[in-house]
Amino acid sequence: MKLETARILSHEQVYEDTFLMWLSCPPIARGASPGRFLMIHCADGYDPLLPRPMSFHRFRDNDDERQFAILYDVRGRGTAWLSQRQAGDQLTLFGPLGRGYAVKRDAQNLLLVAGGLGVAALIVLADEAIKRGKAVTLLQGARTVSKLYPTELLPKEVEVFSATDDGSAGHHGLVTDLLSDHLPWADQVFACGPNAMFRSMSGVLREARTRKPVQALLEERMGCGTGVCYGCAVFARRGVKLVCKDGPRFELRDVFPY
Ligand SMILES: Cc1cc2nc3c(=O)[nH]c(=O)nc-3n(C[C@H](O)[C@H](O)[C@H](O)COP(=O)(O)OP(=O)(O)OC[C@H]3O[C@@H](n4cnc5c(N)ncnc54)[C@H](O)[C@@H]3O)c2cc1C
Ligand code: FES
Repeated sequence: MKLETARILSHEQVYEDTFLMWLSCPPIARGASPGRFLMIHCADGYDPLLPRPMSFHRFRDNDDERQFAILYDVRGRGTAWLSQRQAGDQLTLFGPLGRGYAVKRDAQNLLLVAGGLGVAALIVLADEAIKRGKAVTLLQGARTVSKLYPTELLPKEVEVFSATDDGSAGHHGLVTDLLSDHLPWADQVFACGPNAMFRSMSGVLREARTRKPVQALLEERMGCGTGVCYGCAVFARRGVKLVCKDGPRFELRDVFPY
């Protein structure tokens, strides 16, 4: 996989501990699509050694150049280093990687389910779907109101329903509590969040006795991002799969049966 250099166009903290970074790197932008990801080297030297995976969060066209953004939370050393970068700095990265979301041509109503920062990978799907005239509903859940993605940053056509663990905004409880009300409307469901959310979704889908296809974007700790180290292996219906290469998009029921 060829290493590329990206230039940081802008970098801002958009809400609590969550940063938005716009990048210019035409070779990476070329093959990027919703649900795919890139690996970013997050150090001045070799520590930490392993690059960090980040989803494509948004695309835009600027003077004939396709640019992309990432949205990330500061979690540990790599993302803390990233948060100190400034506009004009350069990053070493590679990608785009993995298999992203696949929207069926005849699907008109798209239901997006985001848990925590899983929303980072779903916004770009909403953007592209709205551009193609599809209807989009986003269910987003977070610990508390300050961790919800600001709705004013979304295309105005997207209908948003929120849930918070502490009841500070929207439904008091899990985002998956909202799922059954919206399932009958949806032609396709797309999800991104922690494994606990996927487990809870599969419970709701089992109770609803539906075989509706749900595409889930899985997150695992990654070493290489290219199918070499087996660090991201998961057990799926048809055996062991690699999140970086076979995914990160999987049919939910293949990994969390219902
Ligand atoms: C395909 C993919 C796409 C991702 N997209 C995004 C994104 O768009 N925005 C974003 O903020 N994060 C995203 N992540 C998670 C992100 O890669 C980790 O938060 C990051 O690697 C943490 O690096 P660190 O050095 O700051 O933390 P570390 O010091 O490596 O770890 C700190 C803590 O973060 C958690 N963590 C680390 N890596 C992961 C991981 N891969 N999955 C879940 N938890 C992890 C663990 O709890 C760990 O203890 C994605 C992960 C994958 C696999
Ligand atoms: S991260 Fe190395 S095989 Fe997936």
